Amino acid sequence: MRIIGTGSCLPETTVSNDDLAAMMDTSDEWISTRTGIRNRHIAVNETTTSMALEASKQALESAGLAPEELDMIIAGTVSPDYLFPTLSCEIQAALGAVHATAFDLSAGCSGFLFALATADAYLRTGECKNILLIGAETLSKMMDWTDRSTCVLFGDGAGAAVVTADPDNVAAFVQGSDGASGMALYCENRPVDNPFYRQKHGMEHAGAPYYYTHMDGQAVYRFAVKTVPVAIGQVLEKSGVSLDDVDLFLLHQANLRIIESVAKRLKQPMEKFPTDLEQCGNSSAASVPILLNQMVREGRIKPGDTIVMAGFGAGLTWGACVIKW
Ligand code: ACO
Repeated sequence: MRIIGTGSCLPETTVSNDDLAAMMDTSDEWISTRTGIRNRHIAVNETTTSMALEASKQALESAGLAPEELDMIIAGTVSPDYLFPTLSCEIQAALGAVHATAFDLSAGCSGFLFALATADAYLRTGECKNILLIGAETLSKMMDWTDRSTCVLFGDGAGAAVVTADPDNVAAFVQGSDGASGMALYCENRPVDNPFYRQKHGMEHAGAPYYYTHMDGQAVYRFAVKTVPVAIGQVLEKSGVSLDDVDLFLLHQANLRIIESVAKRLKQPMEKFPTDLEQCGNSSAASVPILLNQMVREGRIKPGDTIVMAGFGAGLTWGACVIKW
């Protein structure tokens, strides 16, 4: 596999820690010292689909590919606009990617890493040559905006990448899941509700919907700082690349302290761990491809560079990859 194009899209509206402090009992000091986050982009005029479409167009343009040349579209998201059709099918239609098979993949904040690994497996079968990968989220619609322990952490956005088959390039992946710890981070979907259920439970109307994100922050923190360095070590061993040969580590942008802890455990300088969480917050499956696109556009990723990407999140799930540019 080789990555040949990237793109991203962020909502126009930015919300600072001070803006949040004016709405709820929090402060810039609390949020920034515990997470590193200072601003986040929040969808007002945008949707998951509109941001994913913009990111995908940029990725295709930078790859120099026409939509018809795509064999597959995989979107990592937990916040699509519709339960069905999928985000990836909407993007297929909007792009006119008539030859692509499109499906979504739900792996929380690891969604983009899981999409990359899935794409690699398809490329290796020879069934596909060019695949569009998307990580797109509008988590702001899944927040309880009166719960300061969650809503201050997240932001909206989308990132995309086009990958192509290249058997000679270095590309290795590891993934994992720990479903037994899944309730450390969850969001309800619609509960069972139908006339028979209501009759049995003596209800005239369905209860009010309550589909919000809940998180045991400390459990997720402990999971991340333990799992991510191990996953990175495993994927490097698999690829035969040494830690010191890695030019950049692009980690899921959840929390600066998690990234610092990973850098310390790997004994690598923070300069190799670029961040944008200060301005974007945690955009779940979108965070890694947004940062990837930023690094490419700023010229911080050059041909021949070796990059590691790693994600972790709901499931619980994690994924890491090493790929040569
Ligand atoms: N402003 C002010 N005070 C707050 C806020 C807030 N926004 N949120 C919580 N507090 C209070 C709590 O009520 C608590 O007060 P109390 O001691 O009086 O009860 C106090 O701050 C400490 O709360 P903790 O939850 O213990 O704070 P902690 O130091 O653990 O930091 C945090 C919380 C930042 C969420 C941390 O646990 C963390 O970073 N965890 C990782 C979470 C993460 O990265 N999640 C996303 C990854 S998964 C994914 O990306 C989907």
